[in-house]
Amino acid sequence: MTLTTRPLGSTGLKVTELCVGTSPLASMARLYGYDVSDERAVSTIAAVLDSPLRFIDTSNGYGEHGEAEKRIGVALAAHGGLPADVVLATKVDPDPLTGDFSGERVLASYEESLERLGVDRVPLLYLHDPERISFEEGVAAGGPVEALVRLREDGRVDHIGVAGGPVDLLARYLDTGQFDVLLSHNRYTLLDRSAEKLFRSAHERGIGVVNAAPYGGGMLAKGPDVQTKYGYGERDDRVAEAAGAMAAACERYGVPLPAAALQFSLRAEFVDATVVGISSPERVAQTLGYAELEIPDALWTELEAFVPPSEYWLA
Ligand SMILES: NC(=O)c1ccc[n+]([C@@H]2O[C@H](COP(=O)([O-])OP(=O)(O)OC[C@H]3O[C@@H](n4cnc5c(N)ncnc54)[C@H](OP(=O)(O)O)[C@@H]3O)[C@@H](O)[C@H]2O)c1
Repeated sequence: MTLTTRPLGSTGLKVTELCVGTSPLASMARLYGYDVSDERAVSTIAAVLDSPLRFIDTSNGYGEHGEAEKRIGVALAAHGGLPADVVLATKVDPDPLTGDFSGERVLASYEESLERLGVDRVPLLYLHDPERISFEEGVAAGGPVEALVRLREDGRVDHIGVAGGPVDLLARYLDTGQFDVLLSHNRYTLLDRSAEKLFRSAHERGIGVVNAAPYGGGMLAKGPDVQTKYGYGERDDRVAEAAGAMAAACERYGVPLPAAALQFSLRAEFVDATVVGISSPERVAQTLGYAELEIPDALWTELEAFVPPSEYWLA
């Protein structure tokens, strides 16, 4: 199959509407509930490289020692390098020991990432989870935003993005006018719409919009009985109950719940790419299959009736 390619805002980059998320590849059992071996991770990326998926999302901070980037690096080396048509994005993270998130640390984080991935540069580099510092620290002289802007000015990256959770904080970063791309996660899904307004306004301003975690970190893929967390944390029972009701509605139409969860994001005209986390090679074909399945309009209408009220959203 060929995947639809979309412009990533005004960056000039063209990306497949499906992007491969790699945090599960770092074996973070605390978030996902299971471990992932080196071999399973590397073979997942090998399968991605052999597929129509041409957009990969990772981060310096996935795994205690950058396991996701290291494992991607091993797969890329075995493949003979990064294919020219694959957009590989990574993110800068604080020093894992000291928590330092200064401009200096941003440069060190980027260097570490390049070495682990075995590439000279990436086209897109994000400020990762800026909720770990205050906005004032983020934009201060000598701080991370200034360092990212300098990397772009120096031509060491083409585009910079901000990737994180709380939408009000992300909006403040976008209002600096410095960011080319916005990524938010778990906040535009069947169960949570916190990011919709910001995504729409970012899209209108020509900022690339990347919607990560359409399965809420797994609940909408594996089902609420298997993955009881939403967005990596315990939530009010109303969230799992809504997921259960959605799963039952999907079953009546013969549609797998993850297919509806994925297409909910893919069909939004203001989302340029949807990032799905996977950790085994067979997920590649499954995900592509979910993306092209026919979903009747009547099912979308039924699913909307189960969306939890906004007080249950992550915000
Ligand atoms: N702040 C940030 O920048 C940020 C935050 C969150 C996410 N992200 C990015 O977005 C990506 C997506 O988020 P996410 O991975 O946390 O959540 P997600 O995409 O909502 O869900 C991932 C979970 O769904 C499971 N899954 C995927 N396809 C499946 C299938 N066909 N059948 C059964 N289970 C399936 C995965 O299981 P398996 O492991 O078994 O495949 C994994 O447990 C991340 O990997 C990361 O790259 C970025």
